[in-house]
Amino acid sequence: MKGLHCVVLAALVACVQAINQTIVNVPGLRAVVDTDGIGGFKITLQRGDNAPETIAWIGRNWPMPTSVVSTNPLVLSYDEYNTTLSFSSTTVIGNRTGQIITVAWDAPKLYVLEDCVEYGTHHWYGGPQQKEQYWPIQNLNFSEYSYVTKEADNCGVAERYWLNSAGVFYYFDKKVPLYVDSKNLVNNSACFIAKVQPPYSSKRTRNYLIYDIAIFEDVRKAHEYAVEKYLKKPTGYPDELMIKYPIWSTWARYKRDVNHVVVLEFADEITKHGFPNSQFELDDLWEICYGSLTVNTTRFPSMKETIATLRQKGYRTTMWAHPFLNKGCEPWYTNAKNLGYIVSSETGNVDTSWWNDNGTIGSYIDFSKEAVRKWYMERLIKLQNETGVDAYKFDGGETSWSPTVAVLEGDIYEHPNLITTDYVRTVAAFGSLVEVRVGFGTQDLPIFVRMIDKDTYWDFRNGLATLITTLFQMNINGYPLVLPDMIGGNGYNEAPSRELFVRWLQANTFMPSLQFSYVPWDYDDEIVNISKKFVNLHAEYTPAIIEACKKAVSDGSPVNMPIWWIAPNDTQAHAIWDEYLLGETILVAPVVTNNARSRDIYLPAGKWYEQGDKNKVITGPITLKNYSAPLDTLPFFIKSNTVAPVYSALLVLLGVVINLLYK
Ligand SMILES: *[C@@H]1O[C@H](CO)[C@@H](O)[C@H](O)[C@H]1NC(C)=O
Ligand SMILES: *[C@@H]1O[C@H](CO)[C@@H](O)[C@H](O)[C@H]1NC(C)=O
Ligand SMILES: *[C@@H]1O[C@H](CO)[C@@H](O)[C@H](O)[C@H]1NC(C)=O
Ligand SMILES: *[C@@H]1O[C@H](CO)[C@@H](O)[C@H](O)[C@H]1NC(C)=O
Ligand SMILES: *[C@@H]1O[C@H](CO)[C@@H](O)[C@H](O)[C@H]1NC(C)=O
Ligand SMILES: *[C@@H]1O[C@H](CO)[C@@H](O)[C@H](O)[C@H]1NC(C)=O
Ligand SMILES: *[C@@H]1O[C@H](CO)[C@@H](O)[C@H](O)[C@H]1NC(C)=O
Ligand SMILES: *[C@@H]1O[C@H](CO)[C@@H](O)[C@H](O)[C@H]1NC(C)=O
Ligand SMILES: *[C@@H]1O[C@H](CO)[C@@H](O)[C@H](O)[C@H]1NC(C)=O
Ligand SMILES: *[C@@H]1O[C@H](CO)[C@@H](O)[C@H](O)[C@H]1NC(C)=O
Ligand SMILES: *[C@@H]1O[C@H](CO)[C@@H](O)[C@H](O)[C@H]1NC(C)=O
Repeated sequence: MKGLHCVVLAALVACVQAINQTIVNVPGLRAVVDTDGIGGFKITLQRGDNAPETIAWIGRNWPMPTSVVSTNPLVLSYDEYNTTLSFSSTTVIGNRTGQIITVAWDAPKLYVLEDCVEYGTHHWYGGPQQKEQYWPIQNLNFSEYSYVTKEADNCGVAERYWLNSAGVFYYFDKKVPLYVDSKNLVNNSACFIAKVQPPYSSKRTRNYLIYDIAIFEDVRKAHEYAVEKYLKKPTGYPDELMIKYPIWSTWARYKRDVNHVVVLEFADEITKHGFPNSQFELDDLWEICYGSLTVNTTRFPSMKETIATLRQKGYRTTMWAHPFLNKGCEPWYTNAKNLGYIVSSETGNVDTSWWNDNGTIGSYIDFSKEAVRKWYMERLIKLQNETGVDAYKFDGGETSWSPTVAVLEGDIYEHPNLITTDYVRTVAAFGSLVEVRVGFGTQDLPIFVRMIDKDTYWDFRNGLATLITTLFQMNINGYPLVLPDMIGGNGYNEAPSRELFVRWLQANTFMPSLQFSYVPWDYDDEIVNISKKFVNLHAEYTPAIIEACKKAVSDGSPVNMPIWWIAPNDTQAHAIWDEYLLGETILVAPVVTNNARSRDIYLPAGKWYEQGDKNKVITGPITLKNYSAPLDTLPFFIKSNTVAPVYSALLVLLGVVINLLYK
């Protein structure tokens, strides 16, 4: 498009010289679309008496349109390109009042559409999940980043939702072949690009760039509206035992070296050291080959007996499951291939690779087909029937495992993300003990979504720091039922140090569930004692976690949010990433720095009980400098004034319990 200017075309067609059109004009808010002077248009917002602020750059790569089709709504036509651009607005009334501006490009597939969002001086939240999950997200860098779930960057949850601290959000339609680029045209902005190229289907005939810009009074009201209208809330929440007591997984500690004896020894160790459990997660590797869904009887002579023995010892069991089939895993691979049950590319290639190729070639089961969904479920139900396993842990599910460009069923404009949606919706049928690790438009499901494998670091290299920021990303994407990954990380680089292990557990304490694989007793008695203290603290506060889950179900409230959730106009709160809330009254400030025995803590407005102790009141807003936090201490605070009577009695009780624990 660049270089084709209106002046050149003027000889051939009529041409719009300038636009200056008010699209929103309500008390306290005015939005104008006008010619930006550098190609395309800009949207300027004026709120109250504040100076006007440019919030978006539209169609910078395009020449001026040929005609104004209408002014209300504003519809512009680029006749020679068979393209239209429209701006419409609606007013939201009710408990939350706001304005929605819808911007919609409709073009032939060969044209690239690109609009940019100005970051301004605001902080930004949401966006796709990232391995180095910096926060707020204006600190992330994206380069022509395809906005799909994918293995790269741990991008398992990728809702097209960007929210800022001034109460403005952008929500991009699911059918946009979307890319994001944070360093493209304009500094200090994110450009959203629609481009029909892999991984999006070449069978599309039109290109669309459609999004809503929503403007609300503050960041919280904006997000509440986003949950109500776009993201949706869960219809239920996971198993309560899974919330209360730890899941014990074989993965980080044993990797693939599991068998009947190892599993039972592990369970005995857990019990012997006095730790409770919700379930035992038998991870990779129990199959004879990947995709067979057939137990290797050398490792597990009778899985039914293994699982029955675990049950006698007080453990429910889940087994690891995945959507792959390896070439050479016969007869399953050839059967599935002949039935057309594995994903093929537009060129007919079915080969792919995943982390367990096992020296061969993988393939990806095509969950976009109804027959496949039925077939997969029947096989897992049969296995469940044969083994007595309680449920499964479902791994994978990102779009990127397909050979590209994937040929899928369903609406071509929802490829490829719909394979993630279809997979997750299918396996969720296994019920309240299930976990998945991906999501796309599946916020309504009442199941845990796990954070993708964490690495054993302190910092933003997918380490402890990102346990908190990933929690935020998932909650803000509309997934409040977050299952944190293994305490201490997966040890792919090295096993966690005792200090990292303990700080990780502490940071995890007020999140919805605990998951161990590395174990406290592999360190020393002090670590065992501290670990028990926090496993107990998590169990003590389970009623508060469950209450937050119920609130998520009833009104769409997130479970664990950044602290601005209770202080939406507090500019200091907007930038904080290393403190989080459980519900609206518990503020947690874990130590996430190696060797630290203190940290600074910001408490927003309100009366706060230190460690829940009603005799220790702190009034915010305040920054507690160098707050003491020895290795056995997790700083947390409970807000007093918003506590309902029944809950308050509960907290007094808990306060007593905690005081006892601390002695
Ligand atoms: C746009 O129109 C408004 C009045 O509606 C006027 O104040 C403003 O100067 C105009 N801007 C341009 C660039 O013409
Ligand atoms: C222009 O686009 C419309 C779809 O929006 C399509 O139906 C029509 O055939 C296109 N016209 C030309 C001349 O390509
Ligand atoms: C406003 O909120 C109240 C209390 O949450 C609710 O009962 C009512 O239905 C809401 N009204 C609208 C129009 O959403
Ligand atoms: C993003 O890019 C900017 C400018 O190049 C750089 O200063 C910053 O460190 C980058 N951030 C990350 C997280 O890589
Ligand atoms: C972006 O900022 C850099 C450094 O301030 C400047 O050199 C560059 O010209 C800017 N780019 C654009 C497109 O404004
Ligand atoms: C935040 O500020 C806006 C206006 O500046 C106001 O309308 C809104 O009610 C405030 N929110 C809270 C929670 O005070
Ligand atoms: C079953 O597991 C054993 C022990 O790891 C391994 O040697 C064997 O190859 C596996 N059997 C099959 C059929 O893969
Ligand atoms: C791994 O590959 C070997 C050799 O091809 C095969 O015997 C074995 O069954 C495979 N294991 C799995 C789990 O696929
Ligand atoms: C479960 O297994 C039993 C035999 O152990 C069999 O009779 C029954 O049909 C099986 N049910 C399903 C759903 O596979
Ligand atoms: C751990 O706790 C036990 C039981 O309370 C106690 O006997 C032991 O001294 C503690 N060990 C350490 C190292 O704190
Ligand atoms: C912070 O507190 C620790 C102990 O809690 C103390 O050793 C250190 O000197 C304090 N640092 C500052 C800067 O006050």
